[in-house]
Amino acid sequence: MKTILVVGADRGIAHSICLMLKARGERVIAACMGAGDSLLKADVEVIGGIDITSAPAVAMLGGALKDKQLKLDWLLHVAGVLGLDELGRIDYDDMRRQFEINTLGPLRVVEVCLPHLDAGAKVGVVTSRVGSLGDNGSGGMYAYRVSKCAANMVTLNLHHDLSQRGVAVVALHPGMVATDLTKDYPGTFNYIQPEDAAKGLIARMDELTLQTSGQFRHANGDTLIW
Ligand SMILES: NC(=O)c1ccc[n+]([C@@H]2O[C@H](COP(=O)([O-])OP(=O)(O)OC[C@H]3O[C@@H](n4cnc5c(N)ncnc54)[C@H](OP(=O)(O)O)[C@@H]3O)[C@@H](O)[C@H]2O)c1
Repeated sequence: MKTILVVGADRGIAHSICLMLKARGERVIAACMGAGDSLLKADVEVIGGIDITSAPAVAMLGGALKDKQLKLDWLLHVAGVLGLDELGRIDYDDMRRQFEINTLGPLRVVEVCLPHLDAGAKVGVVTSRVGSLGDNGSGGMYAYRVSKCAANMVTLNLHHDLSQRGVAVVALHPGMVATDLTKDYPGTFNYIQPEDAAKGLIARMDELTLQTSGQFRHANGDTLIW
C-alpha cells in the first residue's frame, strides 16, 4: 500500500484520482480547499482548508503531515485554475491570481512536503500542454499559458534538485477533460471524462522512475515537448 498525497482534490480530476487510488487499496490523503465531504464518505483522509496560495494554509498542510508522521510515496499536485483572457483586455490582477495558484502553488506545496519525501518517492505536477513553448501554435490565454509554462519550469527545476535525492519528478498533462475548468472553454473538443484522465495520470505515476524523471508526459502516454 502506497501513501499518496493529492492536492486540489475538492473536484474534477484530482477528486477522481483520489477515488481511484483508494479503490485500488492505497492510503490516500486529499488536500482540499474545502471540507472534502464526498471524499470523507469514501474513507479518503482529508486535510481541509488548504488554499495553496496561502503560506499559513500550506504550512498547516506541512503540520498535518508531520503530525501524521507521514512518508509520502507519491505527491500529486493537481490544483489549478483557468481564466480566459485576450490581448487588449488582459486583467493583470487575474493574471497574478493564476500565477499564484498555477505556478507558485505547486512550488509551495512541494517545498513544505520535502521532509516527507525520501529516496524512492515520486512527485507529479499537473501543468498543461497549453504551457508548452514548443507546442504553442495559436496564441491567446496569456495568464493560463504563462502560469502553466512557468509551472513546467518549476517542475523541471524540481526534477534537477530532487532526483539527486532519489525523488523522481514528472510534469503531467491530463488531456482535454470535461470538468468545471473547461466548461466555458471556447471551441469544440473531444473531451474525455475525469475518470479517464485520472486513469492515465495514475499510469504515468506508476511507470515513473528516476531514469524517466524530468519529462513532460500526456496522460495518454505521449511524451510532450516543453
Ligand atoms: N480539464 C482539462 O481539460 C485540463 C487540461 C489541462 C490541464 N488541466 C489542469 O488539471 C488540473 C485540474 O483541473 P480540473 O479540470 O480538474 O479542474 P477543476 O474541476 O476546476 O478542479 C480544480 C481543482 O483545483 C482546486 N483549486 C483551485 N484553486 C485552488 C487553491 N487556491 N488552493 C487549493 N486548491 C485549489 C479546486 O478546488 P475548489 O473546488 O475548492 O475550488 C478544484 O479541486 C489543473 O491544474 C488544470 O490546469 C486541466
